[in-house]
Amino acid sequence: MITRHDCEALDASDALAQMRSEFSLNEGEIYLDGNSLGPVTKSTVTRVNDVLNSQWAVGLVRSWNSAGWMDMPLRLGDRVAPLIGAGPGEVLVADTLTFGIAKLLGAALELRPDRNVVITDRANFHSDIYIIEAVCARAGRPITVKCIDRNTLDDELDENVAVVELTQVDFRTGEQLDMKAITEKVHAAGALTIWDFAHSTGAVPLDVHDANVDFAAGCSYKYLNAGPGGPAFIYIRKDLQELVSNPIPGWLGHARPFDFELTYEAAAGMRAFVTSSPSIIALAAFEGALDAWDKVSMTDVRSKSLALTDLFITLVEERLPGVFEVVTPREHDKRGSQVALRHTEAYGIVQALIDAGVIGDFRDPDIARFGFTPLYLRFVDVYDAVERLGSVMESGSFRDPRYAVRNAVT
Ligand SMILES: Cc1ncc(COP(=O)(O)O)c(C=O)c1O
Repeated sequence: MITRHDCEALDASDALAQMRSEFSLNEGEIYLDGNSLGPVTKSTVTRVNDVLNSQWAVGLVRSWNSAGWMDMPLRLGDRVAPLIGAGPGEVLVADTLTFGIAKLLGAALELRPDRNVVITDRANFHSDIYIIEAVCARAGRPITVKCIDRNTLDDELDENVAVVELTQVDFRTGEQLDMKAITEKVHAAGALTIWDFAHSTGAVPLDVHDANVDFAAGCSYKYLNAGPGGPAFIYIRKDLQELVSNPIPGWLGHARPFDFELTYEAAAGMRAFVTSSPSIIALAAFEGALDAWDKVSMTDVRSKSLALTDLFITLVEERLPGVFEVVTPREHDKRGSQVALRHTEAYGIVQALIDAGVIGDFRDPDIARFGFTPLYLRFVDVYDAVERLGSVMESGSFRDPRYAVRNAVT
């Protein structure tokens, strides 16, 4: 049996232990939902205050030049790049993720004008499916969208497939897909890949160059901690950048936005994928969050993430044998940084647990989802969270009728 003392010993030798002090966390609360909305860092508070009180309040419109606001989407892109294995000039921070996927898909379809099938995963996040269908319906040529069981991808790949869009870590189950092997297969069929990194960036090591990924996009508000509605990023492999165009062009992606020309001429490189005015306050929040990421290596983050998820699974099975089905793969190479537990009363369990000070979330129809974020979670937090889960299950408090009422955000 693992004891709390064992967990304290793990914390004492944790290479990332000092990172916890970078965050503002609620005393006594165990936050296992950083895979949905990461907590705020102290650096974010400082940077946002600086934008509000100095750059905006004092600098006013001059700050577009003097504070480097115009370059923030590219500057932050270069700071995100190492987290996904990209190089300088390959990542842009702009829009939100669904918009990013729309832009990348529109661009990718132009590179395969003779092909008329786009494949995605029927277990994908619904927003990906909606936007893929919408972009394809307006592509200017007939395109069929196939939402498949991702395990049957081999059977579906043929000379008609233009693009395959997949989420690299499944948002429900936490299963991580083999990006390199899948990208290789897709390329062998002559198609292009778009990877959704929503549950991957800051959660698992990524190497878009090694996997020869064409396009990718991810959000900033989960493991990267940029704040609610924080901007997304998109990646376009360097050699593709001169071949593609932004399907949602705007003035700030123009080569000379302040010449006010009526004919669009794309700026060079990733800047062409900027559409409109960046949200400077949101970018400042993201910049502050990235300060924490500069101090850690993804190797350390990954090894602690696996240790935390292993510990959680082991403790749940020790403390509550047979109560939950662990849906997340046991194999390390197939696991993201979350653990999904299946139970028919998962919604009530998550609500009761939140009232007991352990924040997780629920994914319809029967998944209690817990994110493990190595920058601020301790091993004792995992121990205490499972203890509180045990109390919720033993007391039956999750059956209280007030926990049956579904909130808008689950
Ligand atoms: C896998 C995945 N894709 C896309 C999205 C949509 O992100 P956004 O609201 O930034 O468009 C989410 C949001 O949680 C997600 O988890």
